Amino acid sequence: MQCWLISVVVVAVSTMILLFLFSFDSLEYQQIGLNYSFLSESVEKEPYKPGRYYLGVTNRFIKFPRTVQSVSFIDDWAEGLQGPALQSRTKDGLTVRLEVSFQYKLIFNELYNLWATLGHDHYETTFTRMAMEQLSTATTNHNAHFFFRNRTYVSTEMHRKLDEHFRQHAFAEVPFFQLRTVHLPDDFEDAIRETQVQEQHIHIARLEQKKKKVTFATEVLKAEQAVKKINNQAEGEATATLTKNRAYCEQYKYTQELQADALEGVIAASAWTAPELLDFLGLRAVRDHPSENTLIRI
Ligand SMILES: *[C@@H]1O[C@H](CO)[C@@H](O)[C@H](O)[C@H]1NC(C)=O
Ligand SMILES: *[C@@H]1O[C@H](CO)[C@@H](O)[C@H](O)[C@H]1NC(C)=O
Repeated sequence: MQCWLISVVVVAVSTMILLFLFSFDSLEYQQIGLNYSFLSESVEKEPYKPGRYYLGVTNRFIKFPRTVQSVSFIDDWAEGLQGPALQSRTKDGLTVRLEVSFQYKLIFNELYNLWATLGHDHYETTFTRMAMEQLSTATTNHNAHFFFRNRTYVSTEMHRKLDEHFRQHAFAEVPFFQLRTVHLPDDFEDAIRETQVQEQHIHIARLEQKKKKVTFATEVLKAEQAVKKINNQAEGEATATLTKNRAYCEQYKYTQELQADALEGVIAASAWTAPELLDFLGLRAVRDHPSENTLIRI
């Protein structure tokens, strides 16, 4: 009888201890969760941060990741990635393949709404589908040429759209986005590359033209300098000649005046008439002249 009672007490106490232990649930550092009761199949709206909580025997946490989760659409995809490169069309109708990846993070305060709207098991698949749809649509906003020219802009725009859409419909935010590669049809890429090469040529030609312009301007400047120098020289020479001529003329005039004075003196002293004086001068000229150059008419 006593033995039976002891057994009951032991079983009861053990059961209570077990029930007490099973009433706890914990969330790891990288997890957030919702308080789910499988008795009433209901969920508390309040989300929970990492830690150990007393929930009651009939309750457990539905766990969600607290950290950033990555989604990739790349060509050499493997297990764990979401799929191969996205295929879509540009505004001008060319096929384009985009390799992209992005990272999303669940919004803590929206956790209940996420669970209520998208559930726990399939929300990741829904996210992937949403992203594919959004990115494919965003692709059709631009011409193929724009993808080549302005990839940064395309990338920023896709990121913004994805983030907006996820905040509104997926109860998550997209803090990071990478547009890894853009594959356009080979013909188009070749044509673009050719265009770029030609543009390079034009650029180089422009530079050369500029350089030549500078060289020519320098030549013209040099020539102008030379002309100026020559002009200055000529002016200098002209002035010098003029000065010299003037000096010579002055001197000549002075000599002539002196001579005239002297001859006047001779006339006065000798009492010669003018013809007699001229005879005398003629004789002196003959005497002073080199004899081999003299021809006298008699
Ligand atoms: C979880 O929900 C149950 C009711 O379903 C409640 O009794 C319990 O206190 C909740 N747990 C916490 C930690 O709030
Ligand atoms: C990229 O596109 C935007 C919007 O059309 C424009 O404002 C920007 O200047 C472009 N950048 C380049 C490098 O073409």
